[in-house]
Amino acid sequence: MKKALTLVALMALNASAAELAPAKTEPVNVNSLSHAAITEVRAADAMPTYPKKGEPIARSFAHQPPLIPHKADYQITIKKNGCMTCHSPDKAVRMKATPIHDSHMQADSQINNEYFNCTTCHVPQAENKQKLVENNFSNQ
Ligand code: HEC
Ligand code: HEC
Repeated sequence: MKKALTLVALMALNASAAELAPAKTEPVNVNSLSHAAITEVRAADAMPTYPKKGEPIARSFAHQPPLIPHKADYQITIKKNGCMTCHSPDKAVRMKATPIHDSHMQADSQINNEYFNCTTCHVPQAENKQKLVENNFSNQ
């Protein structure tokens, strides 16, 4: 009985091996899926340039979340908030950065989780030569 089972199993293996063997195929002509010709070739956009280190950007209205005057790709994960490396109240002086606003803290000196994802409210501001989006905001 055991032998017969092994035989059946081997036959099944053989059958699937045959199925997996690559079938003989004709060479395929690969054509680009994009049929549009490239008519415009231009230089890449300039890299963003940020204000000099240590220079906050003037605020446009009271209680505006200040713009970030530097690159903002520091990681914010559950375990570690990259922004807090410089902006947490106990490190800010040493890092020459402004400590986060009092509103971002809880009574026990921990960051209020509602403020954990800094870039929900703060956005980096680069001096791009080209406008990315039209904007006619005025604080007047
Ligand atoms: C390597 C240190 C460092 C890290 C990390 C860092 N910053 Fe900064 N940040 C600075 C310095 C220095 C300034 C300029 C001094 C200032 O205004 O605080 C600044 C300025 C700012 C300002 C302007 C403050 C103001 O009063 O106008 C904001 C907002 C800010 N950072 C947010 C962030 C956010 C959000 C992150 C994470 C994505 C972050 N920073 C990560 C060093 C850092
Ligand atoms: C829910 C929106 C929000 C989130 C999230 C948030 N902030 Fe702010 N932040 C503000 C606002 C609004 C102000 C301005 C407060 C004022 O002037 O009344 C501010 C102010 C600041 C300032 C300037 C403080 C000062 O005294 O001038 C810094 C620095 C800052 N935030 C950093 C951060 C960092 C770092 C994080 C993430 C850990 C963060 N913020 C998360 C809204 C937010």
